[in-house]
Amino acid sequence: MSSSVREASAALEAIAREIRSCTRCPLHEGRTHAVPGEGPPDAPLLFVGEGPGAEEDQQGRPFVGAAGRLLDRLLASIRVPREKVFITNTVRCRPPGNREPRPDEVAACLPYLVRQMSVLQPRVVCLLGATATRALLGSDQKLNQVHGRAVREAGRWWFATYHPAAALRSASVANALQEDFRRLRRLVDVEWGTEVPDRWKPGALQKIFADGEATEPVVVSEADSLRVTWDVGAVHPTFRTESALVELLCRFLRRQRKAQAEVVSLQTTDAHSRRVPPESPVCVHLYAEVRLGPQL
Ligand code: URA
Repeated sequence: MSSSVREASAALEAIAREIRSCTRCPLHEGRTHAVPGEGPPDAPLLFVGEGPGAEEDQQGRPFVGAAGRLLDRLLASIRVPREKVFITNTVRCRPPGNREPRPDEVAACLPYLVRQMSVLQPRVVCLLGATATRALLGSDQKLNQVHGRAVREAGRWWFATYHPAAALRSASVANALQEDFRRLRRLVDVEWGTEVPDRWKPGALQKIFADGEATEPVVVSEADSLRVTWDVGAVHPTFRTESALVELLCRFLRRQRKAQAEVVSLQTTDAHSRRVPPESPVCVHLYAEVRLGPQL
């Protein structure tokens, strides 16, 4: 174990100790055990659920009940070992009767998650369910609109999906969750495969696109800034958010130009040049103004 991993491990254990004796909100009154979360200190992938259920409260470990067993199967289905990811929750003490945590309880517990994330520095954060999605992506987020799509914010990927417990109650949610996990795998492959401009993995490039037909951004003019067009019709739905397209565009340009790239303005349109959001299935073109920064 390197010294930085040892330090991260000690920092996570210190946060866990605080959580186990926390009294910041009334949820502590009914707990058997608080559930700080678990996983390796250098886990690049973080899962955030809602809050402990009965079995988690008994054992002090996250996702060990029925929802946890489904999470284990979902992870296995995308060939991600549970021991390689960090798993935690929005609140760390069981809400009575498994009710949804209240906003004040979420707010009291959130600083622990922020601190765990600042130690872990995960490259991808998967939000399981509406509570985690609202807590981390904003209270206006509707899970049925944002699930299954990568969002790039604060230097990392965020990916919301349904809570496994909801999938145990509904076959259609179970199908959507399974499809979202396939997308999560795609996101992980793209993240791992395109991060270093000189060492893009060919398989990762294909995964940006739905049918494997790669269309790269094209620089149409360059003065102080670059004008770029990109035929995004074939980009996989996983990456059809403005922030994901911006990030991928910058990665393409970093690789082409061997320089940092920053998107100054961006527009997405349909085949008739009408402005449409990137999420729209009829969105086929992207136009951007990009400023190049220091050489890599
Ligand atoms: N549901 C959650 O949200 N978290 C757990 O740890 C278990 C079930």
